[in-house]
Amino acid sequence: MQLIADRWYVVLDSNELGRGEVLGRMRMGQELVFWRESSGKAFAARDRCPHRWTKLSNGKMVGDALQCPFHGFEFEGGGTCTKMPAHPERKISGAMSLTTLSLREAHGFIWIWTGPSEAPKGDPEFFDFSGYSASGSQLIVPVANSYTRAVENQLDMTHLPFVHAKSIGRFVKSPAMEVQTDVDGDVIRMKNSQSDVPGPEFWGPNIWRLKTGPIWQFLAFVPIDETHMQYYLRTYQPFATWEPAAWLIGKMTAASNDRVVGEDTPMVEGQPKGEVKLASGEVLVPSDGPIIAYRKWRKDKRREWPDWDKKASAPNDPPGDPPKEER
Ligand code: FES
Ligand SMILES: [Fe+2]
Repeated sequence: MQLIADRWYVVLDSNELGRGEVLGRMRMGQELVFWRESSGKAFAARDRCPHRWTKLSNGKMVGDALQCPFHGFEFEGGGTCTKMPAHPERKISGAMSLTTLSLREAHGFIWIWTGPSEAPKGDPEFFDFSGYSASGSQLIVPVANSYTRAVENQLDMTHLPFVHAKSIGRFVKSPAMEVQTDVDGDVIRMKNSQSDVPGPEFWGPNIWRLKTGPIWQFLAFVPIDETHMQYYLRTYQPFATWEPAAWLIGKMTAASNDRVVGEDTPMVEGQPKGEVKLASGEVLVPSDGPIIAYRKWRKDKRREWPDWDKKASAPNDPPGDPPKEER
């Protein structure tokens, strides 16, 4: 799948992966396995045991090791095989290692680095939501199209009075609007000329926010594969810090967001399946400025991700011998 090179992608909410749990999820066009040690540290790898290629996500944690369900081989977070029950005396080959991914956990999300460069040391860039609570507000909404189509839907201001005529679009004064676009590195900001307040901000490769009054709406566009994605929506509100009240406000905003996103989904799913391209044949107009900016931003940053298959071990090593690397 084509993804933006050398960026952190949000792939999961931290709450989806408990301590001592193993989780299999399709993300970024690949079957991935996620697991979390008792210390809380999370890991991700290709969901394929190096031995006979069954899914590790059907396995379990044994202490802090991920155990394959097929023959009980165990793997540490770094990907090293530490136990081979059929051959307890044998030295374990380096080829019996997991294809691990650079993972970071920050701001209540799990992020994966696309490379090819080494992942940077610090946390992925995020917004300063200190003083705000997103408790209870999270929604996960699947959409049957590329995440790039869903991003563009959130960069599109002129659909509001039509798609959202009965909800948020009621507040748009007129469908006629000039849309100003500002590109700053990986950030695309936009503003409708009818309004004095700033419009949404897209932060490449897959997050977005919009201030509506005192609250922030937040979206992550999580790629599943080339034709499927999930929104992870949150509302960050500054009113309530007492947890039960914050949670209740979160649930109310989630119900309203669910309705609004439900209005968008038929539009996004009604577009051709697959990632957007700069020269698509669509007839774009001036108010599509943020969409054109997004397509230009993507153009030279995409790469095919991942490139794992070179690392697979040869299938015909003599019985009992560890597989040889790179045969
Ligand atoms: S397939 Fe995983 S241990 Fe054999
Ligand atoms: Fe919309």
